[in-house]
Amino acid sequence: MKAVIVEKPGSPEQLTYKEIPRPQANENTIVIKNHAIGINYIDTYHRSGLYTLPLPFVVGRESAGEVTEVGPGVQDFKVGDRVVYIGGETYSEYTEAKPASTEKITNDISYETAAAVGLQGLTALTLVRHCYPVKKGDYILVHAAAGGVGLILCQLGKYFGATVIGTVSTAEKAALARANGADYVINYTQEDVTAKVNEITNGLGCHAVIDGVGKSTWDTSLECTRRLGTMISFGNASGLVPPIPISILAPKNLKLMRPQIFGFLATREESKRWWGELFELLAKNVIKTNIYNIYDLKDAQQAHIDIESRKTTGKLLLKP
Ligand SMILES: NC(=O)c1ccc[n+]([C@@H]2O[C@H](COP(=O)([O-])OP(=O)(O)OC[C@H]3O[C@@H](n4cnc5c(N)ncnc54)[C@H](OP(=O)(O)O)[C@@H]3O)[C@@H](O)[C@H]2O)c1
Repeated sequence: MKAVIVEKPGSPEQLTYKEIPRPQANENTIVIKNHAIGINYIDTYHRSGLYTLPLPFVVGRESAGEVTEVGPGVQDFKVGDRVVYIGGETYSEYTEAKPASTEKITNDISYETAAAVGLQGLTALTLVRHCYPVKKGDYILVHAAAGGVGLILCQLGKYFGATVIGTVSTAEKAALARANGADYVINYTQEDVTAKVNEITNGLGCHAVIDGVGKSTWDTSLECTRRLGTMISFGNASGLVPPIPISILAPKNLKLMRPQIFGFLATREESKRWWGELFELLAKNVIKTNIYNIYDLKDAQQAHIDIESRKTTGKLLLKP
């Protein structure tokens, strides 16, 4: 089968499209024929070596497709089931998957939609429901508000009653964030984010700051979190946040959280709860897809160049 693999970490040119053996189900796994593959920023960390994986590896953390093989010990799935999967090795025609990381999808959810709202939707949902349970009257600040996770955060933040303030780098991104629920959008290339947030919040700052950008936004995020507020750092699109002394949280009695989605999906019960809630919000049209582009699997290099160049919005998909 065809797959995109990394033999040596580095720039997007290290993504190699090549023929590798097709996986087979073992006693307790299934095989999925991928129809849509979700691109996530974490794929670039694996490719670049910021997050290390044993070499060589098939890139990717998310796909949607149909089950083509079922191990003899697997109870919950049968050949032909339509599923979405969050796990490893998805930039490929087929993926061997653990049933615990796989969820069935109904016929009204397309493979593209499932792969577009899976990992990023669950991330956004756990951020506003667990990391900081957003409620009516809150102010929340969302960085990269027109990105994949960012647009869903705008949709959910609005739905749960918050005033959503987004930051973006272009006017086009600002319009898109607004169309997805942001009440205020700050173009940080033109305006001072802290000053603007203070203006909007009467100098109090935000109840929660949700920051997937990392290194370049850390100081601003801390400034924009109100006394007794919550600062959530959940990504490093601009680089890793350097080590910080915890005493930095003391002046405003802040809570700090650094979550990752996989820790919310550790058991079957947790996984079912979050996927169930996500599917409900999708059915109610609270969560809406924003697909920027669907690339051929062989063009994964271009997709990585595009997402890292900050010109993309919403979700990028690959098609085998
Ligand atoms: N913890 C978790 O479980 C989890 C799960 C999913 C995603 N994440 C994290 O969430 C963040 C967003 O992920 P995503 O897949 O939705 O990507 P994305 O937001 O669609 O793309 C990244 C965006 O970050 C902004 N950005 C600011 N500085 C940047 C820089 N130096 N280089 C590149 N981009 C920069 C850009 O928006 P502007 O041009 O508007 O600034 C860019 O479009 C990533 O850090 C990712 O690792 C974490």
